[in-house]
Amino acid sequence: MTRPTLATARLILRSWREADLAPFAAMNADPRVMEFMGGLLDRAGSDALVARALAHFDTQGFGLWAVEVAGGAPFIGFVGLMRPGFAAAFTPCVEVGWRLAADHWGKGYATEGARAALAFGFGQAGLAEIVSFTSVVNARSRAVMERLGMVRDPADDFDHPNLPAGHVLRPHVLYRLKRPLAAPMAGSAGPS
Ligand SMILES: CC(C)(COP(=O)(O)OP(=O)(O)OC[C@H]1O[C@@H](n2cnc3c(N)ncnc32)[C@H](O)[C@@H]1OP(=O)(O)O)[C@@H](O)C(=O)NCCC(=O)NCCS
Repeated sequence: MTRPTLATARLILRSWREADLAPFAAMNADPRVMEFMGGLLDRAGSDALVARALAHFDTQGFGLWAVEVAGGAPFIGFVGLMRPGFAAAFTPCVEVGWRLAADHWGKGYATEGARAALAFGFGQAGLAEIVSFTSVVNARSRAVMERLGMVRDPADDFDHPNLPAGHVLRPHVLYRLKRPLAAPMAGSAGPS
């Protein structure tokens, strides 16, 4: 299956390259980036995440895209769509997620990249709903979800099954976004 490339005003969402592995490992070893991830990743764990992202594209047609700034930084992190690997009340589902190097926060890149990923998910991938979830305390990630127009219902809050009881990151919020109704096509005659 081909791995699609997406372009936004400032970003290119593309497949992963060998040259991404070292900067991605540096991100995954940065306590600022990994504050809400439950621990740092070493190089092997970081490379394994890239391998999973590539395999996800090949089986599902979408996945975590490597993000580059057009005409700028060649790799700043990932944005993409994934099927979570754990069972919860809201699975099976597709989630939109993001992880950027800290130097590239505060520029709107996560939201801009996620909008392209959502458009792909609702468009080519034909999804009816995309969710996102994070620890209650991950305010930056929740702010991205809210900027995207995703909606949280407190009744969907859940404890992440892969984190132990009492862990500060275990309580999670879930945000949902339904496929927007198709806009009328320009020039269409409308109902007759
Ligand atoms: C979560 C994460 C991706 C959010 O990144 P972010 O840069 O804060 O989010 P956005 O891309 O939406 O950028 C929004 C910020 O850019 C600012 N901004 C600057 N220029 C902008 C522009 N041209 N357009 C839009 N926003 C712009 C906004 O004002 C906002 O600033 P604020 O944080 O001071 O309010 C980032 O913190 C991260 O990678 N964290 C670690 C990994 C993580 O926790 N992932 C989520 C796991 S669930």
